[in-house]
Amino acid sequence: MTVIVIANPKGGVGKSTIATNLAGYLARQGHKVMLGDADVQQSSRAWLALRPGSLPAIASWEISDGQVGKPPKGTTHIVLDTPAGLSGARLEETLRIADRVIVPLQPSMFDILATQAFLQDLASRRGKAKVGVVGMRVNQRTRSADQLGHYMEQLGLPVLGHLRDTQNYVQLAAHGLTLWDVAPSRVERDLEQWASVVAWATGAVVAPGVGVAKVAQGMLAAV
Ligand SMILES: Nc1ncnc2c1ncn2[C@@H]1O[C@H](COP(=O)(O)OP(=O)(O)OP(=O)(O)O)[C@@H](O)[C@H]1O
Ligand SMILES: [Mg+2]
Repeated sequence: MTVIVIANPKGGVGKSTIATNLAGYLARQGHKVMLGDADVQQSSRAWLALRPGSLPAIASWEISDGQVGKPPKGTTHIVLDTPAGLSGARLEETLRIADRVIVPLQPSMFDILATQAFLQDLASRRGKAKVGVVGMRVNQRTRSADQLGHYMEQLGLPVLGHLRDTQNYVQLAAHGLTLWDVAPSRVERDLEQWASVVAWATGAVVAPGVGVAKVAQGMLAAV
């Protein structure tokens, strides 16, 4: 079983957007997925309640008072959405169970500054969890994307991909949907951008020296 935690102490950076879409991707692949929501706002839980029953199922992973319960047998993946401001004992508890941590980050100076200490902390840990950053609301091949890449290189953390600013995420979320629940032609560009993120999240083997994005391009070319 793989536990993928989505975290960034800064609010509104796209944690719930990544958590719900990643859970949707895994469910579409036929995995037995649970989506946990450690956030008092319960965005992911509210989203699950909107999700049509006809779509690939995502179970809710109940968390009470920050205490995580045992997932049912057969669960293959847990995606855990976390609140802004996560720190201290609750952060430790969350990282302890994580196999992978995805940090969504908008490549602006204020967002990077607000997340700096958190990223440095994650980068310095020698725990089992692998950590990767996703550039949010950013277009690839822009200066800010380059700057984010440069900064992450210094920290030794991989940039898993960039997700553009699009109303697709807002519209889909309003109906309990993900990119993998609608006609691919509607969200083609976004599916392409996610390829490298899901490859990393599911542990697709990445050869040394080969960027995750390159591997994903290869995967896309193969289908
Ligand atoms: N790539 C994107 N393009 C356009 N809108 C986006 C994108 N990512 C997130 N959003 C929107 O931005 C808002 C904040 O995103 P989201 O709720 O995922 O952030 P969060 O980090 O979970 O916030 P919080 O810290 O409050 O839990 C939402 O309305 C979401 O639909
Ligand atoms: Mg959220």
